[in-house]
Amino acid sequence: MSKIIFDCVRKSFPGGLEVLKGVSLSVKGGESHIILGQSGCGKSVFLKCLLGIMAIDSGDIRVDDLSVKDRLRSGEYMRKFSILFQGNALFDSMTIIENVEFGIGQAKKNISKCRDMAAEKLLAVGLEPRVFDLYPSEISGGMQKRAAMARAIAVEPEILLFDEPTSGLDPVTGGVICHLLRDTVKNLGVTSLTITHDLKVAAFLSDRVSVLNQGDIVWTGHASTMKKCGNEFVEHFYHASSAIGEDRTT
Ligand SMILES: Nc1ncnc2c1ncn2[C@@H]1O[C@H](COP(=O)(O)OP(=O)(O)OP(=O)(O)O)[C@@H](O)[C@H]1O
Ligand SMILES: [Mg+2]
Repeated sequence: MSKIIFDCVRKSFPGGLEVLKGVSLSVKGGESHIILGQSGCGKSVFLKCLLGIMAIDSGDIRVDDLSVKDRLRSGEYMRKFSILFQGNALFDSMTIIENVEFGIGQAKKNISKCRDMAAEKLLAVGLEPRVFDLYPSEISGGMQKRAAMARAIAVEPEILLFDEPTSGLDPVTGGVICHLLRDTVKNLGVTSLTITHDLKVAAFLSDRVSVLNQGDIVWTGHASTMKKCGNEFVEHFYHASSAIGEDRTT
């Protein structure tokens, strides 16, 4: 099972904004790890650096024995990952099943039974055959999330990345999708890394949580110990998140 290592990763932008200030992190093989942080703290930058979409200034990111710096020389680094994007990133002009077939075709060009494989993955995420030939705009947000999940797992990655997996969904559908993600990760036995600002999502999906604040990982541990972990920012984040929805009139 794949391991991910961030070794003193720095990333800044012109104008002097330093978003990652020497981030070090170790995600164990088979672990479900969460990066939790408030809006603007650098979660998306972190993910883009991991994928090599954004070049890092210094330090290194390694997946098993491969460095992100080798990404352009070898497709092996990228083949480790599959990502469930925040907005699902389904192709509007393709049907649901074509979206999944496309993912398989990209990864394994000589597969002739793409449709059968795609159907199998769609069924595995709980989508019925009646939606296979519909377009993304013709199905609900929750179904789109499932379709995007089918596409992500179809290429049989070693690491699944989830970017704000419940954003844009109502709480009930968000909860159902969280169960689907957790079950899928468990069934496939892969390593997963989830980016979120939602404490409930973090607590439900995680083996361990890392909190990103002001350019650095300020705490890593089990979600159940966040409340009294001794780090002022993490405890504040915990209480502020928990307070949402409380009756403030008393
Ligand atoms: N390409 C870029 N050029 C300049 N600044 C950038 C770039 N990408 C991100 N930033 C800056 O880096 C900081 C972190 O942005 P990022 O998108 O990673 O935040 P985030 O934690 O993902 O926030 P959110 O939860 O709202 O998605 C922000 O101040 C942002 O303006
Ligand atoms: Mg973001």
